Amino acid sequence: MRTTINQIREMKQNGEKIVMLTAYDYTTAKLVDRVGVPLILVGDSLGMVVLGYENTIPVTMEVMLHHTRAVVRGTEQALVVGDMPFMTYHVTVEDALRNAARFIQEGGCQAVKLEGGVTVAEKARRIVECGIPVMGHIGLTPQSINQFGGHRAQGKTPEAAVRILEDAKALEQAGVFSIVLETVPAPLAGLITQKVSVPTIGIGAGPQCDGQVQVINDLLGSFTDFVPRHAKQYARLADIITGAVTEYYNEVRAGDFPTKKQSIAMDESILAGLATK
Ligand code: KIV
Repeated sequence: MRTTINQIREMKQNGEKIVMLTAYDYTTAKLVDRVGVPLILVGDSLGMVVLGYENTIPVTMEVMLHHTRAVVRGTEQALVVGDMPFMTYHVTVEDALRNAARFIQEGGCQAVKLEGGVTVAEKARRIVECGIPVMGHIGLTPQSINQFGGHRAQGKTPEAAVRILEDAKALEQAGVFSIVLETVPAPLAGLITQKVSVPTIGIGAGPQCDGQVQVINDLLGSFTDFVPRHAKQYARLADIITGAVTEYYNEVRAGDFPTKKQSIAMDESILAGLATK
């Protein structure tokens, strides 16, 4: 049985920390799912950590659906959230509904995430009314990176902090089942967590959020372009991969791979028969 949005809501009520991680492919999603992580986000961060773009803006619906399907195939118990890409929910409510529906129908996930607060609340409300669970995302919203002038912490001035609180309340009113708070001061995230009834999931937002989300490549230490300040590397996969590939490279060059163990044997008489052909 997959985790439901009601179970995620109950986790806040019970004071149980909510664990969320990104995944972008079948193999990784399967491993994450087996640990029991209840929320898996197919984040548009894949644009950077999987596809090598500078930011998330070039990511399209087709790319997101392709990866969402792979993650859904790899999971049994997690609630899979598809991240709506840049400008797929901004222009009209119709656009937002159609694209959210594609995530559920074609991607097979159980919820969608969209960035923004007050400005997207109406779209979030309509998507929820159509039966599609929505996760909000406020604070540092990477799709607005050009507006922010970089990956900068948000909510540091009194006015900016009030705006983020208002964004959280607007999303709560719209009926979202949870809200990602990205790169905002920890005390502000703590206050928002107290003031809204829906679970808050932090990334770079301190320990007082109801849950935490990380980009899996940051957590595994496989993405080496930069390590965000909020990330903790629980492994150094980049070193492990480099070591393994170097060993393979050296063995092939030296003729040490493959050995008999990795090769297919053949009856000597068949081979002898072939020699006379
Ligand atoms: O795209 C993503 O991975 C995200 C998380 C960082 C919340 O939006």
